[in-house]
Amino acid sequence: MSATEKISIRVEPTQQSRLSQVDFNNLKFGQIMSDHMLVAEYNNGKWIDVSIVPYGDINISPSLSALHYGQSIFEGIKGYKFADGTVSIFRPDKNWERFNKSAARLQMPEVPEDIFIGGLKKLLEIDNSWVPSLEGTALYIRPFMFATEAALGVHPSISYKFIIITCPVGAYYSKPISLKVETHYTRAAEGGVGFSKNAGNYALSLYPTQLANDEGYDQIMWTDAAEHKYIEEAGTANLIFRIGDKIITPHGDTILHGVTRRTIMQLAEEWGYEVEQRKVSVQELIDGIKDGRVTEAFAAGTAATITHIDRIGYEGQDYKLPAIESRDFSNKVLEYLNQLRYGKIEDSFGWNYIV
Ligand code: COI
Repeated sequence: MSATEKISIRVEPTQQSRLSQVDFNNLKFGQIMSDHMLVAEYNNGKWIDVSIVPYGDINISPSLSALHYGQSIFEGIKGYKFADGTVSIFRPDKNWERFNKSAARLQMPEVPEDIFIGGLKKLLEIDNSWVPSLEGTALYIRPFMFATEAALGVHPSISYKFIIITCPVGAYYSKPISLKVETHYTRAAEGGVGFSKNAGNYALSLYPTQLANDEGYDQIMWTDAAEHKYIEEAGTANLIFRIGDKIITPHGDTILHGVTRRTIMQLAEEWGYEVEQRKVSVQELIDGIKDGRVTEAFAAGTAATITHIDRIGYEGQDYKLPAIESRDFSNKVLEYLNQLRYGKIEDSFGWNYIV
């Protein structure tokens, strides 16, 4: 199947739905997967088979190259249910674009739009009843791709699997978080893979995050590899600050180009705030907290949505941020996005992709 050929998707429905096992009033993040998954196979330059099958284990070879050399990328997207039952996916086109940028950096094939977006649409038509409707809940969508060649030579795999699994979720963080500024370990360097959403970027965060947890912080705040002077992102989301009258977010190819971050910066601009995407030094942040110019700080991501930051630890000292109720920008964004994603207000930016 070439990129221009129409892709047909075979469907094998489950014989036994697990939907009745889900407590929609008490959803945890990423624990119960929906009934079906989309699986697409790539071999020797072509996407050869795309199917929607019951969610379940997959067979893999012990010499699978993704396990040894890490060609493995993913995305995080959310789907929502409106009061009238309509299912909508939030900006999946942006995740598709980013996915293919990650793929290119890791020498993996691009996934065509009719498999990524068309396949996702079909999957959600089938698992429509898994999309939760309560405010604060969503269907988390996890597209991922990994190298499947069974060979130990270090070379790009000739075969890949692209899979989409989904799960109903509640909040990733249920309360404001504390961050420790990381000044020893590094997430990404210039010319590396920081902008790509590859599995290794998360593996490398686990040990430093555990150290931060042991010191009583929820997450780490990454800083630049060269000097550990400039803020990059948090372990699971981008970072946005309100300093003076400006909405500011760190910028560059060592950080993930988040869809939520881009959405919030676009809204800020639209609402007349001065917006800056630039280097933000840790010193600027700490000085700003001390003199009251930093009035808001939050993590922004698909899973995290908007998670307020209440405390930042730097060089053994803790810095408290202003009360959550006083943060009018981030609270307004959160409210606006909630209204938009559940179809309660007009979608003037065309961000809701209706299934
Ligand atoms: C997301 O926000 O979708 C992510 O991928 C972060 C995740 C590792 C929980």
